[in-house]
Amino acid sequence: MDTLRKVPERVSENSPNPINNMDSYNKIYTEALEDFDKYWLNVTLDNVVWKNKPTVGLSGSFDSVVNSPLKWFEDGTLNVTESCIDSNLSERGEKVAILWEGDETKDVRKITYNELHDEVCKLSNTLKKLDVKKGDRVIIYMGMVPEAAFAMLACARIGAIHSVVFGGFSAESLRDRVLDCNSTVIITQDEGLRGTKRIPLKNTVDEALDIGLLNPVKNVLVYKRTGGNVNMMDGRDLWWHDTVNHSSSECEPTICSAEDPLFILYTSGSTGKPKGLVHTCGGYITYTSYTHRTVFDLREDDIYACVADVGWITGHSYIVYGPLANGATTFMFESIPTYPDAGRYWDMVERHKITIFYTAPTAIRALAARGNDFVTKYNLESLRVLGTVGEPINPDAWNWYYEIVGNNNCNIVDTWWQTETGGICISPVAPATPTIGGSATLPLPGIMPLLKTQEGIDIEGPGEGLLCIKHPWPGQARTVWGDHPRFVDTYFSMFEGLYFTGDGCKRDDNGYYWITGRVDDVINVSGHRMGTAEFEAVLVSHDSVAEAGVVGFPHPIKGSGVYAYIVLQPGEIWNDDLKNNLNDLCRKQIGAHAKVDLYQHILGLPKTRSGKVMRRILRKVAEGEPDALGDISTLADSAVVDSIISGAKTLEK
Ligand code: WT7
Repeated sequence: MDTLRKVPERVSENSPNPINNMDSYNKIYTEALEDFDKYWLNVTLDNVVWKNKPTVGLSGSFDSVVNSPLKWFEDGTLNVTESCIDSNLSERGEKVAILWEGDETKDVRKITYNELHDEVCKLSNTLKKLDVKKGDRVIIYMGMVPEAAFAMLACARIGAIHSVVFGGFSAESLRDRVLDCNSTVIITQDEGLRGTKRIPLKNTVDEALDIGLLNPVKNVLVYKRTGGNVNMMDGRDLWWHDTVNHSSSECEPTICSAEDPLFILYTSGSTGKPKGLVHTCGGYITYTSYTHRTVFDLREDDIYACVADVGWITGHSYIVYGPLANGATTFMFESIPTYPDAGRYWDMVERHKITIFYTAPTAIRALAARGNDFVTKYNLESLRVLGTVGEPINPDAWNWYYEIVGNNNCNIVDTWWQTETGGICISPVAPATPTIGGSATLPLPGIMPLLKTQEGIDIEGPGEGLLCIKHPWPGQARTVWGDHPRFVDTYFSMFEGLYFTGDGCKRDDNGYYWITGRVDDVINVSGHRMGTAEFEAVLVSHDSVAEAGVVGFPHPIKGSGVYAYIVLQPGEIWNDDLKNNLNDLCRKQIGAHAKVDLYQHILGLPKTRSGKVMRRILRKVAEGEPDALGDISTLADSAVVDSIISGAKTLEK
């Protein structure tokens, strides 16, 4: 077992952070618990630009959320782009706000805060001309270009609600989202670029909108990235360069109430279709800016790089909103970590002198597997803080990150959070917290984790259980778009008065938290969150498939892989053609990132006598632990289990 590593001196030295050692951490943590409202009001009044300053903290509780959404700072009014843009103009107007590197290494753009202001205002004015009003929904379906960030901020500036859809999602997934939030405008680009691949974003939008009268979208605004061939529909589609570039670069921000929605972001759960989580203006900007500067220990001259995609919450909170509200230089990367080779990240660190670097365990594992030479040939001395997010990191990968990338001279922040939490909840604070591979360490001020047994009993001290959070914090999602009962049911029905995260977690003797992974039917594949129910719905939509059971299994690079058990219709034959058809179907109905790693053809799913699928058995067999099935006495037909176990042994893994 590894031991705790002290914070390297150069990480804590001269830290401007109020939390710069464990004493100050403990002091501030206690202070926040003693008076949550006072704590968060101070944080927001000190750092967020308000039009009317809020005088109240929290309204509501985890009990009252059953009836109506929680509110933070409810009497405050603001526009978040004043924090992200305008407030930086006087002192940082010529500072680089967005440092972008495209697919090719020579393709670099530097956008100053002054330029950011102008670009965002031009787009805001264009959206206004397209009749987008406060509260209207705009879908953003783009690759990693600065224009995607402009688009988010332009919506925010006019009080419109954006919903970014990750560029890997298929036309059908995009259509579901368009219809769910009834968006009137889509902002996209001709094509995305990722390594040697071109992603046909505009074509996919066309396909998604091919739904006749149901289509709520009046305009599609298209940014030209590659010049690839696209169809422009008369009266509906507009080129960015024909419209945005001719709009005024002054746009007064629309003042919103603290609880007006800022964005909707769809995420997978254990049942049904993805749900649109709603984040609101005041609490979200308070929490993301606060956690960003605290956890990463932001300094004025930092070059901060988060290599996630803006299609996920990490990109929202820690590429766009948090860093810009802190006046940081935020790096944006269009391509993939292995193009042109596995040294791409480290080459960028050297060329741009990146000081803070934030990525996912799956990337760390994939790069570690390519050998150290790709890392050590670059000068990485600029690095001070390394971050990881998205799934549990195994100690080997953590140690490689610490020793090889960080040269034993950086601290690693293993940041636990979720789309629902809006920002980081459990994490080291870079200059303060001693770290150890595999542990997200301690809760941030204002966050009260609680471990519960399945039966709902509180676990005190060291132990393992279900991770809940006891008291609200400003950054958390308020509801599911159009379906508050689903929000309540998903997060607040497991334990009364507590937020249930869906994760399992251990607490050790130091009080450190070790996230063990999802305990529900959500699978984290390469940091992408997928619902088993979504896969099952796609697989059974194939004529040859009678039933499907999908679970996760440990995968050396991806963290979890997707394991699908397939029961065929009578008379159908299991072969590679069918497998390929099923793969195509997942790609078409969900997206390019939705791939089944392992199929097992079985004769029947293990069910109880009342007909409920015993998913635990499917999980255990997929995890390679068929001897640990537990109680199977309620099983209708135990022969099914034996054949599943013997079938699993013959699969090539
Ligand atoms: C799930 C949330 C938060 C942004 C990216 C993912 C897992 C997240 C960690 C971590 C262990 C982690 C959890 C969580 N997760 N960070 N540091 N250690 N697990 O957001 O798609 O909403 O997924 O990711 O299982 O519930 P998301």
